[in-house]
Amino acid sequence: TPWRATVLTLFPDMFPGPLGVSLAGRALAGALWALEARDIRASATDKHRSVDDTPAGGGPGMVLRADVLAAAIDAAAIAPDRPRLLMSPRGRPLTQTHVAELAAGPGPLIVCGRFEGIDQRVIEARGLEEVSIGDYVLSGGEIAAMALIDACVRLLPGVMGKLASGTEESFSEGLLEYPQYTRPQEFEGRQIPEILISGDHAKVAAWRLAQSEALTAARRPDLWAGRTGQKAAPRRTKN
Ligand code: ADE
Repeated sequence: TPWRATVLTLFPDMFPGPLGVSLAGRALAGALWALEARDIRASATDKHRSVDDTPAGGGPGMVLRADVLAAAIDAAAIAPDRPRLLMSPRGRPLTQTHVAELAAGPGPLIVCGRFEGIDQRVIEARGLEEVSIGDYVLSGGEIAAMALIDACVRLLPGVMGKLASGTEESFSEGLLEYPQYTRPQEFEGRQIPEILISGDHAKVAAWRLAQSEALTAARRPDLWAGRTGQKAAPRRTKN
């Protein structure tokens, strides 16, 4: 059975969305992974099919009901070894390491939050692990779930071929990607760096590493400081 993402959402029509095209979409059509988007509203019980209610203690907005979401999670009948995630801006920041772990497993159940939040008791009672894709607030968890799924799918066997490990390498090692160039040789007066057309593979590799290090030090001091096997500080670049 291939890697599977089971998504619980109030907007199942948003899926597969961008996951249905390009790399992820081709892999989906080729059954290299599976996507199941389930409507939380299908687990509503009252005659109005209501899924949310006003927050206890007052305040703005609406809160997703614990009983409805718990019923939706239970109805998904997830194998016990699958991670149960809740997309939320207050969650653990998603990293490439976490993505690689999720891609190596059976694939997660992902709950997409909406409204002002979801009842805390269902987070605890169903053991949901909160995950954030960054320090900004989306209007719901769906786009965050798509980002997480996309990052996992490109790591699955057969999805990217041998390119995957190579492209992954620099970020997984805590470095930003070096700049890339292709034809034409001159663009609006700007040349491709000469070393890249020298044919000297060792020099090319050294140049790229130096570029990656300089970019990382300049743009991401947090990544640069945390890097293992750190070398001497590189010269700064533009940007
Ligand atoms: N839902 C809303 N904002 C989010 C974020 N930054 N990460 C994950 N889920 C979210």
